[in-house]
Amino acid sequence: MQLLIASQNDNKIQEIRAIFPQWKIEGISTDLFPGELKEEGETLEQNAIQKMRQVFAKTRLNCFADDTGLEVEALNGEPGVDSAYYAGNRNSQANMDLLLKNLGSYSNRSAQFRTVIALNWKGEEHLFEGVCKGTIAEEKMGNDGFGYDPIFIPEGEDKSFAQMSMEEKNALSHRARAIKKLNEFLSKQR
Ligand code: IMP
Repeated sequence: MQLLIASQNDNKIQEIRAIFPQWKIEGISTDLFPGELKEEGETLEQNAIQKMRQVFAKTRLNCFADDTGLEVEALNGEPGVDSAYYAGNRNSQANMDLLLKNLGSYSNRSAQFRTVIALNWKGEEHLFEGVCKGTIAEEKMGNDGFGYDPIFIPEGEDKSFAQMSMEEKNALSHRARAIKKLNEFLSKQR
């Protein structure tokens, strides 16, 4: 079955396809959606819904959008919904540098990634959440993955997400957990 994902981020689409092999997952085309989808909400939930609605309005297809934030305890949940633009633009290196600077030598390095998925299924809207708890590393570690992966060490691990294979990351990630809930929902649908 076909599902559109409201994203043009190839890393993210690859991750989702690997978690979800039984579905035909398509990213949105740049022809139909030139530029970025609007994300003007104050929460991950509002952003996921806003992105999903833009895609549904143009395509009328079953579709979903995810919005992810890195929530750092000692920074009162920052960067959270501002994760993509924390240092001003969508630059992962600058975002990580700013986060490490703001966290300084705080001993509390607890953080979590949280993903919210908004699905439009046959005209009805549904939300799914996935959380991965962990800590912020003292410095960047590893080159794989994307975004904040080099500075996030999941609970119970000694490697960052960027030092893991996609399979290892997908066994514990926030996005994989949210997608498993989406999968459970979809597997009960006809
Ligand atoms: P968005 O949900 O694609 O808008 O992502 C928000 C921000 O979180 C961006 O800066 C992403 O790079 C980052 N991000 C999203 N998912 C992940 C992930 O799995 N690992 C690391 N960073 C992520």
